[in-house]
Amino acid sequence: MRRIMITGAAGLIGRMLRARWQARWPMVLVDRAEMDPPGPDETVVRCELTDADAMRAAMQGVDAVVHLGGVSTEAPWESIRDANIEGCYQTFEAARMAGVRRMVFASSNHAIGFYPRTARLDGSEAVRPDTRYGVSKVFGEALASLYADKFGLSAVCLRLGTARQPDEPGERRHLATWISHRDLAHLVERAIEADIHFEIVFGASRNREGWWPDEAARRIGYQPRDSADDWRDRVAEHANDRDPIARDLQGGIFCSWENTRMTGMAR
Ligand SMILES: NC(=O)c1ccc[n+]([C@@H]2O[C@H](COP(=O)([O-])OP(=O)(O)OC[C@H]3O[C@@H](n4cnc5c(N)ncnc54)[C@H](O)[C@@H]3O)[C@@H](O)[C@H]2O)c1
Repeated sequence: MRRIMITGAAGLIGRMLRARWQARWPMVLVDRAEMDPPGPDETVVRCELTDADAMRAAMQGVDAVVHLGGVSTEAPWESIRDANIEGCYQTFEAARMAGVRRMVFASSNHAIGFYPRTARLDGSEAVRPDTRYGVSKVFGEALASLYADKFGLSAVCLRLGTARQPDEPGERRHLATWISHRDLAHLVERAIEADIHFEIVFGASRNREGWWPDEAARRIGYQPRDSADDWRDRVAEHANDRDPIARDLQGGIFCSWENTRMTGMAR
């Protein structure tokens, strides 16, 4: 029986996966925020990802890590650095020392956010991060590549589109980027189980307007069942859809924030 660690278990995706996997796998649930008390076959560890000793102790007997923990949007450098750079490094280190088999790293479409919406990407092109947050995801992908090649810690980096609560698209951009909770859980399960050394895989539902025709997703056996198309007529126009920078770029409003080149603002 696999033992799965979920970091960021108190967050949106962590809670969703925990609820779905309760009868399936023993889990170690890690977060700095409060979590529900442990059920049968669950261990709850409240700690910072940067706490190397705590992460090392929690990692014992773990087969696969689903690394969701970290700052999940743009933030001041110090927060990104502590959680997404140092915290990510300590998570990989603890996994390496414990002999973990598989790392599933929650990357993001914001690693490639400055590509135009007309581009079709498959993960093989150069990165174009749109934020400090996006840069931290590029760092995590690079770390995953290093640990796979040097230490045999096989890895799947999921460049997730948009997962939300409520479980539906919230602006026009999401008609391309949305991933339903059901598809996301299936994607992570495939990332845990696929026979793979290292992959970068985009994570979206079967959206007709999607930008990521993803061979790698097919290679790991991901077969999405939901589609943002079903919501097309119900998605109201959002201010982000009118932003002159956001509307042309895959990263949307993340590309607009603090942008001095395209707005002509003083640096
Ligand atoms: N939800 C999405 O649409 C989406 C899209 C792309 C990528 N992602 C990535 O997926 C992951 C999960 O996303 P989410 O929407 O559930 O985010 P979330 O913000 O709801 O959850 C992140 C969790 O990480 C925890 N955390 C942050 N810093 C920590 C630290 N230093 N030590 C311990 N715990 C820490 C937080 O307490 C939080 O519970 C994130 O890495 C995010 O960047 C999410």
